Amino acid sequence: MGKDLTTFFKPKSIAVVGASKDSRKIGHAALKNILISDYECEIYPINPKEKEILGLKCYKKLTDVPRNIDLVLISVPAPIVPQILIDCVKKNVKNVIIISSGFSEAGNHELEEELKKIIAKTNIRVLGPNVMGYKNASDGLDASFVFGNPRKGNVSLISQSGALGIGMIYLANNEFMGVSKIIGVGNKIDIDDDDLIDYFTKDPDTKVIGLYIEGVKDGRAFMNSIKACHKPVLVVKAGRSLAGTRATASHTGSMAGSDEIYDAAIKQAGGIRCRDIVELFDRARALAGQPPAQGNRIGIITNGGGLGILLTDACEANGLIIPKLSNKTYKKIDKILPNLIKPNNPVDLVGDAGFYRYEACTKIMLEDPNIDGVIVASVHGGYARPREFTGAILKMVRERKLHEEHKKPILATWVGGKEFEDLVWDLKSAGVPIYPSSWRTARSMLALYLEGQRIKREQKNS
Ligand code: COA
Repeated sequence: MGKDLTTFFKPKSIAVVGASKDSRKIGHAALKNILISDYECEIYPINPKEKEILGLKCYKKLTDVPRNIDLVLISVPAPIVPQILIDCVKKNVKNVIIISSGFSEAGNHELEEELKKIIAKTNIRVLGPNVMGYKNASDGLDASFVFGNPRKGNVSLISQSGALGIGMIYLANNEFMGVSKIIGVGNKIDIDDDDLIDYFTKDPDTKVIGLYIEGVKDGRAFMNSIKACHKPVLVVKAGRSLAGTRATASHTGSMAGSDEIYDAAIKQAGGIRCRDIVELFDRARALAGQPPAQGNRIGIITNGGGLGILLTDACEANGLIIPKLSNKTYKKIDKILPNLIKPNNPVDLVGDAGFYRYEACTKIMLEDPNIDGVIVASVHGGYARPREFTGAILKMVRERKLHEEHKKPILATWVGGKEFEDLVWDLKSAGVPIYPSSWRTARSMLALYLEGQRIKREQKNS
C-alpha cells in the first residue's frame, strides 16, 4: 500500500458523505469545519435528499461528483459505510476518514472485516473507523467534526481515543502549546501510528511527536517507525494495570499486551514513555522550545533553598546529576551573591534576589562546561519580584539565541499565586517551559537529556 499521506493532510478536494442541513448532526459539523477553515480546496457535500447544503452544491452520490476527490469524510450510520467505501474505491478517491462508530469497538468485528476486504489490494488510505478526523493547524485545515482550533505550533499529536484527542486540543491551547497536527486514529483498519510517525518525521512543520495509545496492531512496524524517526517521540501507553488492560479492551478493542514489554520496546526504539497527558505536554513543550541537553549534569538556581532541594531530589530520582560547582564557577558566583551565603549547586540566590542575581548566575551556569542544562526557580516569597525572575530568563533565552555556542536548555519552576501566573504566560509564549512543580520540571529535563542521547546515537550510526 502507498504510504505517503501528503494528499491526506493537504487535499485539494474534499467530500463529506452524510453532510446534513441539520446543525445537530456530525455530518453538518464536519462540513462546516472544512468550509470555515482558512484553507483552499474544493468541497462537495453528499446527501441523497438535498440540492444544496451551507451554500454548496450537493451531490446524491460520490460517483456523481464530476472531479477527482482527494479526501472523503464519511458520517453515515455504520451499516451504510461499506457501500460508501465501495463508491470511494470506484471513484478512485485517494483518502478516506470514517467518522462512524459501530465497528470492532462495539463488538461488530464482521462489519469491520468487510471494510478491510473492500480496501484490500487498493491504494486507498483509510483513517478509522470511529474517529474524530484531524486538525491540520499548520495549513489551516480542520477535517474533523469537533469544535475548537489549536494554536499553530510544531507538536503533532496522535490519539487512539477520540475524546482524549479533543481534550488535548483544549489543553494545548490552555497551556499555550502550539500544535501542527492532531489526529484521532480510532480502530486503525489502515492508517496506523507507524504511518503517521513516518509522515511526521518528514513533515517540516513537526518538531515533536506525541502519541496516546492503548494498543498497537503491528508492534514491529510501530517500533521500527520510532527507531527510524529523526524527531523525539513521546508515548503515553494506557493499560499499565490489570484493570486498565480490561478497560482498554472494552474502549477501543485493543489487546494491550504486557506492559513491561511495551515499556522496554519503546525505550529500546528510542521513544520516551510518559506517565500521562500532562507529562506528555510538559515534555513536548520542553522539546519544542529548548535545545536538547548534551549530558545529564544540571545546574539549579533558586531564590528559595527549599525549592532548590526539592528540585535536586527530583532530578536525582530521575537519573540526572546535580554536580558540585567547579572552582571557576564557584568564584564567579561568589562575587555575585551577598556575603552571608556561599555558592553551591543548587545556587541559593536568597529571598531578595532581583533581576541582576538571576541574570548573572544563569549566564555563569550556562557557560560552565560541566553543566548541560539549567533550571531556574522562583518562590514568590515576601521580597521576591516575579517580574525580575521571568525578565532575567527571557533575556538569557534571547542571548542564548545570539550565542549559539551555549546550546543548553533552560527550564523554569515557580511556586506562587495569581501575580506570578500572569507572568508565566510571557515565558510560555516565548517557548520557555515553566512548571509549577519540581517533579514535572525534572521529568521534562530528563526528556531533553534523552533526546540529546538519541541524537548522539543517530549521529554515531549515520
Ligand atoms: N449517502 C449520503 N448521505 C446519506 C446516505 C448516503 N448513502 N444515507 C443517509 N445519508 C444521510 C442521511 O439522510 C442524513 O442526512 P439528513 O440529516 O439530511 O437526513 C445524514 O446522511 C446522516 O445520517 P443519519 O442517519 O441522520 O445519521 P446521524 O448523523 O444521526 O449519525 C453518525 C451518523 C456517523 C454520526 C453516527 O452513526 C455515529 O457513528 N456517531 C458516532 C460518531 C463518533 O463518535 N465517532 C468517533 C469520534 S471519536
